[in-house]
Amino acid sequence: MAAAAKKRSCRVSSSSSSSSLVFLFSVFSLCQSSFSGETSRRNCSVELNPGSPSPPPDGDLLHMRAVGNNDTLHFLFCSQGAPTLLLVHTNSSSSTVKVNWTQFEARNISGGLKVEPESSILYSSAIVFTRLLEYDDVNDTADPTSDLFPPYELQDFTWSRLNLSGLSALLCGAAKTFTNGSLCLQLSVFESEGRDHSWPRLLHTANSSQLGVWLDGVSPRAARSRFLLELQAVGEAYPLNRVEVHRSIDDEFTPSIFKVSQWVSSVNGSSDVLGFLQWKPVAYRRSDPALEFATPCHHSDPQPQSGEETAAASGLIQAFYAEPKAFGLNVSFGLAGEPFYNSTKFLSWTVLLGSGSPPVDSFSPLVLAVMAVGLGTPMILLLLGGVCVCVRKRVAASAYEPIN
Ligand SMILES: *[C@@H]1O[C@H](CO)[C@@H](O)[C@H](O)[C@H]1NC(C)=O
Ligand SMILES: *[C@@H]1O[C@H](CO)[C@@H](O)[C@H](O)[C@H]1NC(C)=O
Ligand SMILES: *[C@@H]1O[C@H](CO)[C@@H](O)[C@H](O)[C@H]1NC(C)=O
Ligand SMILES: *[C@@H]1O[C@H](CO)[C@@H](O)[C@H](O)[C@H]1NC(C)=O
Ligand SMILES: *[C@@H]1O[C@H](CO)[C@@H](O)[C@H](O)[C@H]1NC(C)=O
Ligand SMILES: *[C@@H]1O[C@H](CO)[C@@H](O)[C@H](O)[C@H]1NC(C)=O
Ligand SMILES: *[C@@H]1O[C@H](CO)[C@@H](O)[C@H](O)[C@H]1NC(C)=O
Ligand SMILES: *[C@@H]1O[C@H](CO)[C@@H](O)[C@H](O)[C@H]1NC(C)=O
Repeated sequence: MAAAAKKRSCRVSSSSSSSSLVFLFSVFSLCQSSFSGETSRRNCSVELNPGSPSPPPDGDLLHMRAVGNNDTLHFLFCSQGAPTLLLVHTNSSSSTVKVNWTQFEARNISGGLKVEPESSILYSSAIVFTRLLEYDDVNDTADPTSDLFPPYELQDFTWSRLNLSGLSALLCGAAKTFTNGSLCLQLSVFESEGRDHSWPRLLHTANSSQLGVWLDGVSPRAARSRFLLELQAVGEAYPLNRVEVHRSIDDEFTPSIFKVSQWVSSVNGSSDVLGFLQWKPVAYRRSDPALEFATPCHHSDPQPQSGEETAAASGLIQAFYAEPKAFGLNVSFGLAGEPFYNSTKFLSWTVLLGSGSPPVDSFSPLVLAVMAVGLGTPMILLLLGGVCVCVRKRVAASAYEPIN
């Protein structure tokens, strides 16, 4: 009896020790694979107003090329009309962008901007920032359907020239009726995977671009004003048409936020995602984000919009798409009980636009190490305990043997 029990206890402890070793090994190999970064890279280059002899009077057109092994992502960003970011994915590393400036600036027909050869285009998608809406939240309900002020149409804003720095570009604009302040958009493209230093620290890949949007120093029309932003997603065959909300158990990179929203397009019913707009449902009320300045945001369901109206609002959509299809949604900032815009006069929000499947946050090496220590330590103690018990029993058993 005692010998059987002894044997079993030894076997149990040795199998738990081997499983803990397997666990630790897998944790460290996971860490290694996330450190070694065997992700795809792209070579990026920037061109402002390609082919135009002088800066166009109605606003700049930026072309960022991100060339991969056998493909190219063209990111086009334009302020002629409502600010628009267009992404074109081609299966060639030598595809080019051609602009017919006379047609582009007339803004009345499509074809002013072409990606050539046209047969190399795999996918395209655009996002248009159409309107800024403001409402007076007198009863602090954060219900944006009542007491709306007349909307600010972003196509009527006065936009600055694009301010380039490396692989990012800054565009700021203001309505003629703003007494102060501005709405700014900052576009960044990336050669490889990574994250920004400041929150929400979205994970980007070389297949995505990031747009930060902020509303700084604008005088609200009421003391209890809150804001919404209206966005439209435009495409030809498969525009972004549904928003998925995913939960995560890790808020390491965006403290207190356990969700990620992604507006995606897919071929009817299929689970393969062609392209996406991804964001965390949080905005910040200060330019140096801290937890107490985080404010939740909500999106409405995407609704089909008139493609012609969207093309009329955006020079880039008009020039590139012959038959644009559009879906629109509103993102509202702030919940009931949250401070109003006037408290800091600042609001910032960040999104990624990309092709293919959206990046998925994984556990960071830090979290994995904490898990390894948290789960590994008890297992090592168990193993040591098991060894001690075995050794003692063995010693005790051999001590009894002579008596037998
Ligand atoms: C690129 O295309 C070439 C020939 O078409 C092929 O041999 C190569 O494997 C491709 N590379 C990648 C990374 O897909
Ligand atoms: C577009 O506008 C230009 C100049 O504004 C004009 O010459 C041209 O006829 C217009 N084209 C169409 C198709 O309306
Ligand atoms: C790119 O795609 C087009 C259309 O899908 C196809 O005709 C062409 O052969 C492709 N080219 C390469 C290099 O894969
Ligand atoms: C705010 O509350 C008051 C009193 O309850 C009500 O009369 C009014 O209609 C509410 N206003 C809005 C915009 O909901
Ligand atoms: C506009 O901005 C200036 C400088 O930042 C500030 O002095 C002024 O008070 C602001 N005006 C309003 C109406 O907020
Ligand atoms: C980026 O897109 C290319 C082409 O579609 C794909 O091969 C690659 O795996 C993607 N990279 C990432 C990190 O998603
Ligand atoms: C915003 O807040 C300041 C001080 O907190 C106040 O003086 C100002 O009137 C408020 N603005 C509006 C539009 O009510
Ligand atoms: C956004 O909200 C405004 C005001 O409620 C509404 O008129 C507009 O249709 C909404 N836009 C979309 C795309 O849902």
